[in-house]
Amino acid sequence: MITLKSKREIGLMHQAGKLLANCHKEIAKLIEPGITTMEIDAFVEKYLAEHGATPEQKGYQGYKYATCASINDEICHGFPRKKMLKKGDIVTIDMVFNLNGALADSAWTYAVGEISETDQKLLKVTKEALDRGVEQAVIGNRLGDIGHAIQSYVEGEGFSVVRDFTGHGIGPTLHEEPQILHYGQSGKGLRLKEGMVITIEPMVNVGKWQSKMDKNGWTARTTDGKRSAQYEHTLAITKDGPLILTEQ
Ligand code: MF3
Ligand code: CO
Repeated sequence: MITLKSKREIGLMHQAGKLLANCHKEIAKLIEPGITTMEIDAFVEKYLAEHGATPEQKGYQGYKYATCASINDEICHGFPRKKMLKKGDIVTIDMVFNLNGALADSAWTYAVGEISETDQKLLKVTKEALDRGVEQAVIGNRLGDIGHAIQSYVEGEGFSVVRDFTGHGIGPTLHEEPQILHYGQSGKGLRLKEGMVITIEPMVNVGKWQSKMDKNGWTARTTDGKRSAQYEHTLAITKDGPLILTEQ
């Protein structure tokens, strides 16, 4: 079932999203060679507690941490670890905040120190892919318009779009209908309506789009060992166009 949200509910989710966006900005200041993803996770736990919010991912289907921290060839759902990040790494921090029952979900990929030209392009293209998807999230458009905008742009830049993980409806629980594919055909799929709140979260690979699962049952990584990046926003479909909730 797809739940449509009222202006009030969207407003509350926006509060959670603003807090989350600010936390990403704080993480950006912390990321440098030598820091560990476990330290970043601890920072997020502390940040949440100080702001009266809770980590929705922790305990979700047995997941143990506040954040997902996916390094280099890891696509998503990497566990925070005690291993130090080093210059040239890229790391995706994905987190879901719960503020007074309202949820917001957002991921950013960060560069650790100086990164390769290919990785600079990967981060730029992935962010632009998200923006192009968001642009299509208007009343009357179809889900395929979002997927097509992302896929055609990413593939045109010589990268690939992960198929095995999707965006989703969000609120009152983390993963709600509909699924948001980051590939597809324009003009196809469900029509977007006022009051839908969804995530768009393209994962973009330098090489092939295929993924494989680690033994831990959570972490997905590329099959060819090449790198992967992700940007994710939570957004509402409104009369005035897409309203990004995980932004200030
Ligand atoms: N934030 C992730 C998403 O975009 C949720 C990951 S599942 C969890 O859907 F177990 F890590 F919480
Ligand atoms: Co999500």
